[in-house]
Amino acid sequence: MKIGILTSGGDCPGLNAVIRGAVLKGDAVHGLQFMGYRDGWRGVVEGDAIALRRSMVTGIAKSGGTILGTSRTNPFENGGGPDTIRRRMADLGIDAIIAIGGEGTLAAAKRLTDAGIRIVGVPKTIDNDLDATDYTFGFDTAIEIATEAMDRLRTTGESHRRCMIAEVMGRHVGWIALHSGMASGAHVILIPEQRVSMDQIAGWVKLADDRGRAPLVVVAEGFTTDEMEQAHSERGLDAFGRPRLGGIANQLAPELESLTGIETRATTLGHIQRGGTPTAFDRVLATRLGMAAIDSVVQGQWGSMVALRGTEIIQVDLADALGQLKGVPQHRYDEARILFG
Ligand code: F6P
Repeated sequence: MKIGILTSGGDCPGLNAVIRGAVLKGDAVHGLQFMGYRDGWRGVVEGDAIALRRSMVTGIAKSGGTILGTSRTNPFENGGGPDTIRRRMADLGIDAIIAIGGEGTLAAAKRLTDAGIRIVGVPKTIDNDLDATDYTFGFDTAIEIATEAMDRLRTTGESHRRCMIAEVMGRHVGWIALHSGMASGAHVILIPEQRVSMDQIAGWVKLADDRGRAPLVVVAEGFTTDEMEQAHSERGLDAFGRPRLGGIANQLAPELESLTGIETRATTLGHIQRGGTPTAFDRVLATRLGMAAIDSVVQGQWGSMVALRGTEIIQVDLADALGQLKGVPQHRYDEARILFG
């Protein structure tokens, strides 16, 4: 049996560990052969793939990014669709696909599975917003990077008695902001799930300042104040027509400075959160998911996704992971909010 592997959507630390886990187990236990699609669904639609031998994946678990490349290609556009994909798979002798991706990738995988193509999904996203899995790999690395950055912002903020605003990723959900904010002892955490007024933010900042602290505000890119109509976007639309986010910290800084009278600086962490070496937690999770995807392939569990439940890797229906995002629940925000100000 020959399996095609693809990584699609925004990259994420741990992708290479999934590829390695799948290829090593598939080769050692089942004698499977592998091909790696280049640049996600683009490679599938165009039949652009390379042989993926065991020797090519050894030692890659610690590398960030993806050795296969990724893209935000929609497999139903650009001449794609089930018929083309079936033909291209037959040309390459590929029997089934392991698709490693986030919501968009897995939604496309579900549609293609419904059309009869054999696909097993592996969830990935630094945002940790996929339902039906407790955590996605990449998230732990992102919060480590963000927390370290905030620890650094705090020392420079304290030296100058400034308010520091740190912007992290999180298009629809605030998991990165919540966890890195809690870890670094932020005085305000602003997430897309919770609208807050500028006056309230200024109030928390002043409380921290009154206690002699240099206020640290963590904001997720998708956050909107009570006064805003939509999330801040200044870089046009992405391939799916969604606004590219980023820049809310820079927008908030002068407004906060004029409301509080406290000198304020903004830092946007951006793609630094997605780059570089994955943490040990992410390497282990990603490796286990890659190995479990092989079990799903061998069992013919097409249309399923491997997932983390507690400490166990389980199989869930792709349909259960799609349709709704896993946002920060109210009680987790309320818990963090007790520490604001
Ligand atoms: O989906 C993960 C993510 O990092 C989001 O947090 C962010 O909005 C988006 O990707 C950025 O996408 P791009 O890398 O295409 O700019």
